[in-house]
Amino acid sequence: MATLQAVTGMNDLLPGDGQGARWQRLEAAFRETCGRYGFQEVRTPLCEYAELFHRSVGEATDIVEKEMYTFDDRGNRRLALRPEGTASAVRAAIEHSVLARETVVRWCYLGAMFRAERPAKGRYRQFHQVGAEVYGDDSPAVDAEVIDLASSFLQGIGITKFTVRVNSLGGAETRARYRDALIAHFAPHRDALSPESQSRLERNPLRILDSKDPRDLPFKAGAPSIVDALTDEDRAHFERVKEFLTALGTPFVVDPSLVRGLDYYTRTVFEIVDTSGALGAQDALGGGGRYDQLFTELGAPKPVPAFGFALGIERLLLAAPVTEEKKPFRVAVVAVAKPDEHATHAGVLGLARELRTHGVETVVDTRFGSMKSQMRRANDLAATVVLVLGSNELASGQVSMKLMATGEQRSVARASLLDELAQLQRAAAATGAP
Ligand code: HAM
Repeated sequence: MATLQAVTGMNDLLPGDGQGARWQRLEAAFRETCGRYGFQEVRTPLCEYAELFHRSVGEATDIVEKEMYTFDDRGNRRLALRPEGTASAVRAAIEHSVLARETVVRWCYLGAMFRAERPAKGRYRQFHQVGAEVYGDDSPAVDAEVIDLASSFLQGIGITKFTVRVNSLGGAETRARYRDALIAHFAPHRDALSPESQSRLERNPLRILDSKDPRDLPFKAGAPSIVDALTDEDRAHFERVKEFLTALGTPFVVDPSLVRGLDYYTRTVFEIVDTSGALGAQDALGGGGRYDQLFTELGAPKPVPAFGFALGIERLLLAAPVTEEKKPFRVAVVAVAKPDEHATHAGVLGLARELRTHGVETVVDTRFGSMKSQMRRANDLAATVVLVLGSNELASGQVSMKLMATGEQRSVARASLLDELAQLQRAAAATGAP
């Protein structure tokens, strides 16, 4: 029978330092950073009504037109695996009226997203994001603070070679003006544009600026710049964002061609690109921006200004340096007993349980083979300490302890065992030795 494989573009994450442990460290670092900035974690379903993404990410975007995993459920409702986290978080905030209870909400999230893109290094069909969103604050200080959060998080996990690009897409008035300017610019060249850009010309001309089709490139080059279309208010907002970023010491470059691939953005947008070369063509570590109209577009009773970003975990791990995992302090309990000496086996299980209850990582080779094979297993598991227990030790309340690094062996009273182990653990932590 043919063996089954994971779906193309969707990856297993196996335990161990190469993969699982690095993910856990990265997730822990993100939660910790967000906590310091006053964000709380939200979890939303992996699946939503597809309409949510049509109305937020936008009909005429690559994500919705080409990349979304949509399907009908058994009740013929059109569902989609979430391609991103922002829309779901806003949906949840509206559904649970969170802004009726709190004026400003700061949420962060971590999780799987799905886009049917062509798989490549750093580009998968199930990928994972960490993200953060602020609702209810239209101050440019938020934009700067959250961009700074993203950038400090990267520094904190050892990614130092990146550029923060920022731009402003303006509010509704700017967008309407810019849309007209773009249509006026592209319309005379309609027939020379790619079929996709032709179809987007009236529906969503901003998306043409996102196109990588060689037929569109010559016309993109001369397109009007959004910077010229910004209203005075939008311009002032953007100036403040830049001032605050400078004050925070967060380096950035202004990129007037940055439009982002999702429709909900207004005013500030940003992207963080890796400049180490570790990512090849998929060099965007993350991006985000302000989306002051999305709440009302998704049915909120009143407008709620919002700002956020997401970073791709797989890409962060490609860009981050690989640090050695610190070896844990691990105890193995070994039985000296005949195969049918169940009381001793039970004693070993009991001791292991007691140690675990007190926070000590403890392993037992529950196959209870020969002493030699149990010792070999303890060695394979890189145990720091091996405790040997037989009927004599059980009767006398002693246990024989072997330190694997030195081979030193001694008998310890059960009553003082936890103290002894704690001492060894402290010593190991201090030297970084085990
Ligand atoms: P995005 O730019 O579409 O924005 O995605 C953010 C990041 O997710 C990308 O920069 C990349 O690192 C990662 N990513 C996207 N697609 C893939 C893929 N197929 N494989 C691997 N990684 C990928 C958003 O998703 C917005 N929701 C960000 C945001 C939050 N805006 C406001 N709030």
